Amino acid sequence: MNASDVFVIGGGIAGLSIAWRAATRGLTVTLADPDPGARATRASAGMLAPVSEVTYTEEPLLRLGLASLERWPAFAGELEAASGIPVDLRGDGTVEVAYDADDLAQLDELAAFEEKLGLRVERLTGRQCRQAEPMLSPNVRGGLLARDDLWVNPRRVAQALQQALQNAGGRIVRERIASLDDLSAGHVVVAAGAWSPSLLPGLPIRPVKGQILRLRGPRGFLSKCVRATVRGSEVYLVPRDDGEIVVGATMEELGFDTRVTAGGVYELLRDAREIVPGITELDLAETFAGLRPGTPDNLPYVGRHGGVWVAAGHHRAGVLLAPLTADAVVAGFFGEADLMPECSPARI
Ligand code: GLY
Repeated sequence: MNASDVFVIGGGIAGLSIAWRAATRGLTVTLADPDPGARATRASAGMLAPVSEVTYTEEPLLRLGLASLERWPAFAGELEAASGIPVDLRGDGTVEVAYDADDLAQLDELAAFEEKLGLRVERLTGRQCRQAEPMLSPNVRGGLLARDDLWVNPRRVAQALQQALQNAGGRIVRERIASLDDLSAGHVVVAAGAWSPSLLPGLPIRPVKGQILRLRGPRGFLSKCVRATVRGSEVYLVPRDDGEIVVGATMEELGFDTRVTAGGVYELLRDAREIVPGITELDLAETFAGLRPGTPDNLPYVGRHGGVWVAAGHHRAGVLLAPLTADAVVAGFFGEADLMPECSPARI
């Protein structure tokens, strides 16, 4: 390998963002991945929804999510300008809806928590939910409108980051790095998601499988991002500008298994149909499964560990936390203040 200031292992959204940010600060950067953007980032729906996405007892993760959400509009704007690739950042609002009385009680608790945090959230009756998003089922009992949540197309983001990195002088090598030995760089960064422990044995990151579907409908079929709890299980429907609807996602602890199963697809479609009955008319364009990198406390590891930098373990929040993670790691290269002290690998 040629020596660089920075050598990043892993071309998911975390590794690509770190590499791009480092290159824009004048560092020479090499990123290695056999197929950048092809694993968890490719599976991801791209919701930037810190409150509804984390268990709301996890306040450190919530704080990080809110801090990274604030960075997203500028990050997306700079990325689009640097790459010429639109990333579909949308903020048309998210409706979180409840299907039965228990789901509604859970949503009420979430609303109370969001209000306590001073977040803008409106409680909606079933009728108001349908006014906000006309495709919702008449059975929806009530919901919340979160106007500040955003979402983005992670596949576009990964493509844009590769382009922007190369435009900034960075190099992408399509290789799998099996060992940290013999890497000569000022800073080596392990950002290999669920595969990070193969480079750093003892790092407590495990794969958490998520099956996800892509439906194709007419443009504007859904105007808002829809999240729901249906008899206790969570489902989300994320619309793209081109008519694609991403429906996700299962949570399965099955090791490195990326099979798409009939049961997984059935459960997603069953729950999504309860909330938006019209989806049964759409094309089933793609099924996919990715591996979230889970950690014991659901916080990522971002910081120095075993002589290298690590940026992995972002579990359900990889896309949301990418701008903050990139700024935190690059700040670390320059000896600046730690932006994610909660995520120090020292807690292992
Ligand atoms: N962030 C969505 C998921 O992990 O399913």
